[in-house]
Amino acid sequence: MNFLNRVIVTTLPMIPKPIVGKISGRYIAGDTMDEAIKIIRQLQDEGCCATVDVLGEHITRKDEALAAVENYLQALDVIKAENLDCNVSVKLTQIGLQLDYNFCLENVIKLLEAAKARDNFVRIDMEDATCTTDTISIYKHLSARHDNVGLVLQSYMRRSRTDIDDLAKHVPHLNIRLCKGIYDESREIAYKDPEIIRSNFVSLLSRLFKAGAYVGIATHDERLVWHALELVEQLQVPKDKFEFQMLLGVDAQLRRIIINAGYKLRVYVPYGKHWYAYSVRRLKENPKIAGYIFSQFFSRQ
Ligand code: FDA
Repeated sequence: MNFLNRVIVTTLPMIPKPIVGKISGRYIAGDTMDEAIKIIRQLQDEGCCATVDVLGEHITRKDEALAAVENYLQALDVIKAENLDCNVSVKLTQIGLQLDYNFCLENVIKLLEAAKARDNFVRIDMEDATCTTDTISIYKHLSARHDNVGLVLQSYMRRSRTDIDDLAKHVPHLNIRLCKGIYDESREIAYKDPEIIRSNFVSLLSRLFKAGAYVGIATHDERLVWHALELVEQLQVPKDKFEFQMLLGVDAQLRRIIINAGYKLRVYVPYGKHWYAYSVRRLKENPKIAGYIFSQFFSRQ
């Protein structure tokens, strides 16, 4: 990371929100579901499907959680009405995980039942390590009764290997999005070396395939895409047991390469008013973009 990029990353919290909004616009569909629909249609024209994230996390009051549930119910209605090839991704801290475990569980059940009635599916995003045990426990509880729910696991977490082994024993329709992980965790619990995180991704993917799971292979790392396709061939994994997943605004060229090779690809489309925390994570992930747009922004002023 060069000096300017490092400065941008460390000073992001001090940069005024409108500027962060400007530089992170590529990762967000907009404030409203209507804006998200436009993007999802464009992606469908390209051959992709989508998952929407109504942005928000770490709410502190129950009424905020209920409002988030309402937003997701509306999104599920619109997806059905507009006949979009799109499911939903939700963060449990947005619907009350840090307030009351059972309240959060009831909220996810509402979403799963509404999704089921509309032939749809709910993916539970994985957040920072303080949420991992509860998130997995909620997924285990739900998956005993619902077949339209999936979870995310992170290859930087040292525990993911045993989590997969445990889930494979207890969950009938294991459905996992595998990603590297985006939060800043301590070395005690998370690998820090990018090569180990990458190797662990391949090893976990192999474990998931062998356990018969449906896997969302969520990465823009072309080396991992290559390894995934090697595994698919070696293990003879059928095409209906996996899909690739990418974030809106990241590497549209790789997206086209995967689609043109005949694989299913889902794009993660976040929208909504609570875009700030998501944007900061994305910009920290790729400070080159922050730096580039940041300098353009100021040179235009
Ligand atoms: P890596 O970070 O090495 O990126 C590979 C290449 O992709 C980079 O060299 C760069 O070219 C490009 N790239 C990556 N990020 C970029 C960015 N922000 N802007 C521009 N270019 C970029 N994490 C988590 O902890 N919990 C979750 O629930 C999810 N959910 C999720 C869903 C989906 C669909 C995806 C694709 C990712 C997530 N993630 C996530 C994020 C994930 O953990 C990880 O942080 C990012 O995907 C980046 O890791 P890569 O595997 O892409 O590799």
